[in-house]
Amino acid sequence: MPIRILRAETYPILIGEDIFDEIQVHLREPERKDSKFILMVDENTRNLCLPLLLEKLEQFRECTVIEIPSGEDRKNIQTCVEIWQNLIDLKADKDSVLVNIGGGVLTDIAGFIAATYKRGIRYINFPTTLVGQIDAAFGGKVGVNLSDLKNQIGVFANPDAVCIYTPFLKTLSARDKLSGFAEVVKYALIMDQHFWKLLRNVNFVQIKFWDDIIYRSVEIKNRIVKNDPLDKRLRKRLNFGHTLGHAFETIALQRKDKSMTHGSGVAMGIICETFLSCKMKGLSWEILEEIASYILQNFPYYTLEDDDVDKILEILVHDKKNSGDQINFTLIPSLGHALIDQYCEPEDILSCLQFYRELD
Ligand code: GLY
Repeated sequence: MPIRILRAETYPILIGEDIFDEIQVHLREPERKDSKFILMVDENTRNLCLPLLLEKLEQFRECTVIEIPSGEDRKNIQTCVEIWQNLIDLKADKDSVLVNIGGGVLTDIAGFIAATYKRGIRYINFPTTLVGQIDAAFGGKVGVNLSDLKNQIGVFANPDAVCIYTPFLKTLSARDKLSGFAEVVKYALIMDQHFWKLLRNVNFVQIKFWDDIIYRSVEIKNRIVKNDPLDKRLRKRLNFGHTLGHAFETIALQRKDKSMTHGSGVAMGIICETFLSCKMKGLSWEILEEIASYILQNFPYYTLEDDDVDKILEILVHDKKNSGDQINFTLIPSLGHALIDQYCEPEDILSCLQFYRELD
């Protein structure tokens, strides 16, 4: 696919296979005064993605490469301290640019390092996973975890450019790619019923038109973020499926069960929050059936035990989005539309969990 370009608030998002000429144009803009580029990779992208980039972008061949350990458990302030020290040792200055090559964990942490080093240096993202390409690498949210709490420390800091080289998806396992696909389903359901109608006729494993899927997903999120960059109101539409999705992920984490990905948690969350959309906002029950059956065809079913239900309620009560005893959701009153700040009672949540459990 030829290059497609979107404009975010302050930076371009380049998408496709043929993005490298445009990257060169961007890097040669006369007002730039880049002193050096420092390449940030993890152990996977160093082997699978970095060689491809160095083939295309000669000027990066002599640059220093810093390896950040992969995995959510290393996305913490200690890792930042090590990398900040590395940058000092390398004499990185205010005009240095971090070139971040990796999935969501790497772009979150490397973006945060860039945003805070010497009060902020520029960074360019090359997302290598599906969730990175359609979500994590743009929109300006960067940060790290604090103990078990995800993304508790962070800032908004926009990248200098986002370069989505879609062939990187070939380096992913089916499991990782499927995990990102849950966000694609979410974008369709909250913003674009035609996109949903396209998706529902094709199973994940049959999809050939990935570049179009990525472009449409980025377009949807970019439109939302441009309207509400600081996540005060409309950006909360992106939380659909995530209130319960995060609770499911936490349950799996507490069980030390690594089988659940972020995406499979979100997929389960989408089923439950679609149920709530029917119960609270009049979405049709046929649509719930359609969405639930599509998700069950594509994502693994995760069995919830009796005592998980109480634990989920407990987790939700502590969610910072709530007010009093009521739990805050984003719901869809119809396909392609989302309503933020919808408060549900514990008994509504019990009924959506019951619905999910009966799908087994
Ligand atoms: N991933 C959700 C957001 O960027 O707001």
